[in-house]
Amino acid sequence: MKGPAVRIHSPQLRKSAAAVAALFAGLLGLQPATAFAEKEMRRITDIFKPLSTPAESIHQLAWLTVLISTVIFLTVSGLIVWTLIRYRRKLGEDQRIEPPQVYGSIQIELAWTVIPIIIVFSLILVTARTVGEIQNAKIPEDAEEIRLVGRQWWWEIHYPKRGFVTANEIHVPVGKVSHIALESADVVHSFWVPQLAGKTDVIPNRRNEMWIEPKAEGVFFGNCAEYCGTQHANMLLRVIVESPEEYEKWLANEKAPPVDDPSVAAGRKAFFDLACINCHTLGPDIAKGTFGPDLTHLMSRQTIGAGVVDNTYENLRRWMRDPQDLKPGCLMPDMLLNDQQVTEITDYLSTLK
Ligand code: CUA
Repeated sequence: MKGPAVRIHSPQLRKSAAAVAALFAGLLGLQPATAFAEKEMRRITDIFKPLSTPAESIHQLAWLTVLISTVIFLTVSGLIVWTLIRYRRKLGEDQRIEPPQVYGSIQIELAWTVIPIIIVFSLILVTARTVGEIQNAKIPEDAEEIRLVGRQWWWEIHYPKRGFVTANEIHVPVGKVSHIALESADVVHSFWVPQLAGKTDVIPNRRNEMWIEPKAEGVFFGNCAEYCGTQHANMLLRVIVESPEEYEKWLANEKAPPVDDPSVAAGRKAFFDLACINCHTLGPDIAKGTFGPDLTHLMSRQTIGAGVVDNTYENLRRWMRDPQDLKPGCLMPDMLLNDQQVTEITDYLSTLK
């Protein structure tokens, strides 16, 4: 006889079940929404190769804790195994004889009370020192100021002193402190780029702060680390650490007004005539929607949908066709564009370098 198959009838429930499955798969590093996102997820968890000051301090503390725990584990399990073997019942032994029972030993009880207290207290002290060193560090005057706003399910990134906004990819110069303020526009998220720093919660109506000081150039991967809804597992983040020259080049490009290419005028018109401008920003004063990511220099980013897929023409087109196809549950609805509109708008967006 066949067992009952699991069937979920409500589409809402089915979506939630898929989301929960995706969450666990994401946590286990198994299978987020797309193969691309899966590859991204695998890249973020390298917690054993810290490349920034706060991550290094946390790494050392973690190893100290692991070391102490290992010594305790080996001592306890070693004693258990030794006792099991030493005092096992032997062949031919009279089973009615009870071994001598010992009640109360001041020395033993003192030992197993005092030693753990000393261990726990030492761990508290070193942990407090590391936390203090990271939180009370003096932020240098010339630190790059970045304001990060967590949203369902992407990151809005402000460079307040530079006067522009971008999304999902933070650029910072190598060897310099970047000071990051964390805010949320909706629910609790958590900022975590394992190789650069520890987790910091991103909480509505509150401003948390942290800093990074990357010591090597490269792309560092992170993800939201606090369950925040359907697409939590696809709230990926990249920190692109560049040489000062490369960084200056990126800044100059981000500050420039959006490209206005006359060959894609039809797409630009469609972008402005349809609902796009209600949610997206273009340049400082062209379109001012703030619900979705700023698109002024969309093509300077490596991914779309906060790391769901590579930022290619084909993927952009798929996103325009129906964002729910690439990122189910995301807050951009299917705009029901016709083929011509999808092509025109994709052509236009592709010019926003
Ligand atoms: Cu944002 Cu999880």
